[in-house]
Amino acid sequence: MLKLQVISKSKEETQALAAKIVRLLKPGSVVLLTGDLGAGKTTFVGGALKELGYQDHVVSPTFNILKCYFEVKPNVFHIDAYRLEDQNIDIGLEEFLEGDGVSFVEWPKFIESILPPQTMTIKITRISDNERQFEIFSDCEKYRSVFESLGAK
Ligand SMILES: Nc1ncnc2c1ncn2[C@@H]1O[C@H](COP(=O)(O)OP(=O)(O)OP(=O)(O)O)[C@@H](O)[C@H]1O
Ligand SMILES: [Mg+2]
Repeated sequence: MLKLQVISKSKEETQALAAKIVRLLKPGSVVLLTGDLGAGKTTFVGGALKELGYQDHVVSPTFNILKCYFEVKPNVFHIDAYRLEDQNIDIGLEEFLEGDGVSFVEWPKFIESILPPQTMTIKITRISDNERQFEIFSDCEKYRSVFESLGAK
């Protein structure tokens, strides 16, 4: 198991971490973001998109479930499964999760049955108003460069 822990002391640090990570992800990567409401999952995705040149403010796709960013390379798919809860509705998310882009999934537990096997999980825990703990782990070698680059600080 590849494992890493990082502390972020601000929203900006979280975005910088996301920027670093997104550059290390291979095509078809699926990053699962877990943590409570307000942990910083969407903030993280915003940092990744900013790094790829996306200028606008990134909002949670909670009401859309999926937002596709075809204007950046790699294409980014931002899924927020919160509204799906456990309903098991088939809305074709697999097409994006199995494609060549990079997918970020908030509330992955609600779409567990359709998640591909090769994922990386980022568990965010609130420590204080501005501090967050990031626990990053994966069973898949495809993500090794993330752990090597961040671990070798
Ligand atoms: N170190 C930090 N990292 C990330 N966000 C932080 C940090 N410190 C404070 N914040 C604030 O915490 C909030 C995180 O909100 P965000 O929408 O990213 O959470 P979320 O995990 O996506 O929640 P939800 O499950 O509701 O979608 C933002 O208001 C952000 O400014
Ligand atoms: Mg969110």
